Amino acid sequence: MPAPLRIGLAGLGTVGASVVRLLDRQAAALTARTARRIEVSAVNARDPNKDRGVDLARAKWFGDAVALARSPDIDIFVELIGGADGPALEAVEAALSAGKSCVTANKALLAKHGLRLARLAEENGVALSFEASVAGGVPIVKTLREGLAGNSIERVYGILNGTCNYILSRMEREGLSFDACLKEAQRLGYAEADPTFDIGGFDTAHKLAILTSLAFGVQIDAEAVDVEGIQSIRLADLEAADELGYRVKLLGVARRTPDGIEQRVAPTMAPKSSAIAQVMGVTNAVTIDADAVHELTLVGPGAGGEATASAVVADIADIARGVRSKPFGLPTSELAPLEPAPMQLHLGGYYVRLCAYDRPGAAAAIAARFAERDISLESIVQRRRPGAEGGPPGTAPVVLITYATHEKTLREALEAAVADGFLAEKPQFIRIERE
Ligand code: HSE
Repeated sequence: MPAPLRIGLAGLGTVGASVVRLLDRQAAALTARTARRIEVSAVNARDPNKDRGVDLARAKWFGDAVALARSPDIDIFVELIGGADGPALEAVEAALSAGKSCVTANKALLAKHGLRLARLAEENGVALSFEASVAGGVPIVKTLREGLAGNSIERVYGILNGTCNYILSRMEREGLSFDACLKEAQRLGYAEADPTFDIGGFDTAHKLAILTSLAFGVQIDAEAVDVEGIQSIRLADLEAADELGYRVKLLGVARRTPDGIEQRVAPTMAPKSSAIAQVMGVTNAVTIDADAVHELTLVGPGAGGEATASAVVADIADIARGVRSKPFGLPTSELAPLEPAPMQLHLGGYYVRLCAYDRPGAAAAIAARFAERDISLESIVQRRRPGAEGGPPGTAPVVLITYATHEKTLREALEAAVADGFLAEKPQFIRIERE
């Protein structure tokens, strides 16, 4: 048997400690599967004295992640520090430059520096693996890069943030407030250190940018993702969605369009019949539309120590076996620059909720603004529940579902409706993502 694969592990938080535990628990199976023993030889964390419930007695301690990354005592470097820049970036660069394969769960790092780091890995003939960076324990990176190599992908979309799905699920099921659900997600350890990363949609955007590169063979471009978080969602939207046959999910969607590649993160109406709409709680799901498999959905735990460690360990096992996949599925020289499709050209159906003054002609005037722009309405409902849905007294919610229209046209119709003076609040609109 070859010499053991010596791991240098930087970051011993929830995921780091779970990786140590999982490697220990599965040691015999991993040795059998990879024909090599895997050992954690050296670690780096802020506090060497903290009790993490794992046995690190035989590991060498490093006070500095970069020194660990360069150390001749390790064969591969596992980065679980987090953050797009700083020690995580410096250590990964140092490890790759020193000819060591890297495993990371760091989506922010990849979203910002992924292309450059992939080049560095290529130049040094080593792996840069990041299964854990998207959808936790769901093997979506491997699925896109290897499992679907014989397909042309048209669309990839999914629930990529457990915290947001947890919040929306509990609001919908239990009628709880946004703030109460967020606090509970934080208590359970799902949320990022700064929860605005979760609820503002940025965590999903980082993950989506990684999937886009893998799915379409393009250079990762997180800046081109149109991002909107879940802060604007009201219980009224969740109730109306339910009545109309939809669920509101924070979706990351990437699709090929005639105008380029559209990448967007936003609360989105998913038909209740779709696989994605069934997914509740912290669970993640990704649906891929591809020419040979047609539709494929992967569902599983998107956050949490053990689930994320499962993905980290799978990458370590691949490296132990000698696998050196191209990080984004193609040599970096063949990844095309991403041509972003402008959101104004987005074509699709919309849910619109308006808080209209309950006066004669209000609904008719609103409908006229849509009709004069050729926006066809699938349904229009004025509900007689003044005040019950957050609107001021003397108002009533008007909910519309449109057939496919361009986003620019929809925005113009809403601006015209606002100018007519029948609306008491800013209109709410949510894109519909058809199966
Ligand atoms: N904060 C993330 C989530 C953790 O809620 O999904 C996994 O990236």
